[in-house]
Amino acid sequence: MCGIVGYVGRRNARDVIIHGLEILEYRGYDSAGLAITEGGRISVVKKTGYVARLAKATERMGGGCGIGHTRWATHGAPSEINCHPHTAGKFTVVHNGIIENFAVIKRRLESKGRKFLSETDTEVAACLMDDLYKGDPTEALAAAMKKLKGAFAFAVLCADCPGEIFLMKRHSPLVVGLGDGECFAASDCSAFCGYTDTAVFMKDGEIGVMGEGVFTLYDGNLVKKTVRTEKIGGGAPCGQPAEDFMKKEIFETPAALRDTVNAVFGDDSLKKRIIDIFSKNDKVVMTGCGTAYNACLMGKSLFERVLRVPVEAEFASEFRYKNPIVDDKTVVVAVSQSGETADTLAAVRLAKSLGADVVALTNAGRSAITREADLTLLTAAGPERAVAATKSYSAQAAAFLCVATVLSYDMKTVEKIREEICCLPSLASKALASAGEVKALAALYGKKRSVFFIGRGPDYALAVESSLKLKEVSYVHSEGFAAGELKHGTLALIDRDALVIAIVTQRHTAEKTLSALYEVKARGGKIMIVTPFDDLIAENRFDAVIKTPPSSGLTAPVTAMIPLQLFAYYMSKERGINPDKPRNLAKSVTVE
Ligand code: M6R
Repeated sequence: MCGIVGYVGRRNARDVIIHGLEILEYRGYDSAGLAITEGGRISVVKKTGYVARLAKATERMGGGCGIGHTRWATHGAPSEINCHPHTAGKFTVVHNGIIENFAVIKRRLESKGRKFLSETDTEVAACLMDDLYKGDPTEALAAAMKKLKGAFAFAVLCADCPGEIFLMKRHSPLVVGLGDGECFAASDCSAFCGYTDTAVFMKDGEIGVMGEGVFTLYDGNLVKKTVRTEKIGGGAPCGQPAEDFMKKEIFETPAALRDTVNAVFGDDSLKKRIIDIFSKNDKVVMTGCGTAYNACLMGKSLFERVLRVPVEAEFASEFRYKNPIVDDKTVVVAVSQSGETADTLAAVRLAKSLGADVVALTNAGRSAITREADLTLLTAAGPERAVAATKSYSAQAAAFLCVATVLSYDMKTVEKIREEICCLPSLASKALASAGEVKALAALYGKKRSVFFIGRGPDYALAVESSLKLKEVSYVHSEGFAAGELKHGTLALIDRDALVIAIVTQRHTAEKTLSALYEVKARGGKIMIVTPFDDLIAENRFDAVIKTPPSSGLTAPVTAMIPLQLFAYYMSKERGINPDKPRNLAKSVTVE
C-alpha cells in the first residue's frame, strides 16, 4: 500500500506532489511526507494524519524536483518518525511495499556502525543504498535490488544529483509520466494524468532515472532499455464531492450498471472471447479479496443458477497458499476493483503457472492484473475513491450476470434475462430513492453494538457483503451468514441489544428466512427485513422494513445491495466517522 509521487520540471514540485498525494490518499492516509531539492539542498517535511496537514505545512516550499509519500503503516506505528521520506547519508527515499529481509539487512548494517531512527523497513533500504554507493546512484540501486527481498516501488533523491529522481520497482506499481520538459512518477497514473497523457508503466526489476524532460530506463544489470510509452486518459480527476465519496459513488451505481452492461452486451468480439475461454475449460474458479471475494460468492450463485455448472469461490489470500486444484482445463476469474491487490495478483500468477486461463474482472484497465490475464472484463464503474467498495461491487455482480447469459445455451431464458439486466440501471435508481428512509433507520439503530445480516442463496452473498460494509465504515461488530445457520450457534448472541437484518429477494426461500428472523424476535432482538415482496411486508411483524424494487430473482439481489450500502454509510455518519477514510484501512492493499 502507500502512494508515492515524484516530480522533476519547471513547475513547483511541492504543488504537483501535494496534488498527486491527495489523489493517492486512497492508498493510505495515516501520515504523509515530502522531500524537495532546492539550491542543492534536500528539505524533508513529514506530518501524521491526512495529506491536508502536510499541504498546510509546506505552503511556502519552492523547488522543481521532489518526492512524496502517503502512508499505510506496515513496519512501525503511524508516527512522524516512521513517516516517509527516510534519509540515510546521501539518499532520501519513499517506498511502497514490504522489504521482507529488512531485519537481517538492518543487523548487518548496524554491525557496520549504522544507526537507525525509525522502525521502518524503508529506512533500512535507504541505508543499504547509501552503504552500497560509490558515486553512481543507479549502481547503488541495482546493487540494493539484488539484496532486497519482497515488494517495492522506490523513488529516491541523491544529494549528489540535484534535479534527478531514481526509481526502482519489483511487484509494487510504478508509473512514469512524460511531459514537455518535465517527468512525473507515481504509484498510479491518476496522480499525474491532469498534466500529461503519456506514461511508461515500469516493469519488475527495472531502474529508471528522471530528469527535466528526460527519462532513462535500465534493467537490473544497468543495461539500457527502450522506453515504451502508452497513452493514458488525460484530464483532471474528479474533485471532492459536496458530501462524501462513498455517498457519491453509491449514487453513481445506475450509471456503473448501465455502462458495464453495455460494455459486455455491446461488444461482439468480447462476447466471442468470453465464449472461447470458458468453453475450452472444464472448471470455473472465482477469486478475490474482501468485497471482490463477496462478489465471487454472488457470481458463483448466479453462474450456478443460470448455467447449472459448479463454480468454486476462493479467497485469493487462501488460494495462493493452498496448492489449489487447478490445471490447464480451469478458468480462474480474478475479481479486483483496483486490479492491483497483492493477494489476487499472486493468485493470478499461481493459476497461470499451473496452466489455467485467467479472466480479470476489474475496474482498472491498465492495472497489474490485466497485464497478466488472458482476458479482461472491465466493469465500467468509473473511479472509486472511497475505501468502501460500492458501485464497483454492483458492477461486478452485473458483469457476472451478463457473462452467464453470454455463456448460456438456453436462448429462450437468455432473452428474458437480458431484458431484465437492461432494466438494472432504472431499478438501481428506484433503490436509491429509499435513501431518506434508510437514513432514518440508521439514526434509530446507530448505537447498536451488534448487527447480524442473514440470507439464503444470493442473499447470503449479500449478507456477507452488507456485514463487511457496515464493519469497515461504522466500526459496529457485525456478521453475515446463511439464514439457516443462525440456530446452530449464533443465536446464543441474540439479546435485546442485537439487530438482525434479513435479506429476502428469493421467493422460494422467503418463508424459511423469516422463520429464522422470528426466532430472533422471540428472544428480544430487533428485526429488519430488506425485500421487494409486499405480502411479506404486510405481515407487519418487523421492527423495520426496507422495500427494494421488485424484479426477478436474478436481478433483485443486485439492486438490494444499494440500500444496504446506504445503511452502512448513514451508520458511519451517525457515529461521527469519516466513511471515505475508515481507520486502519486503505483502498488498495498491495502488500500481503
Ligand atoms: O481492489 P480490490 O477489489 O482487489 O480490493 C479488494 C479488497 O481490498 C476490497 O474489496 C476491500 O475489502 C474494500 N475496502 C471493501 O469495501
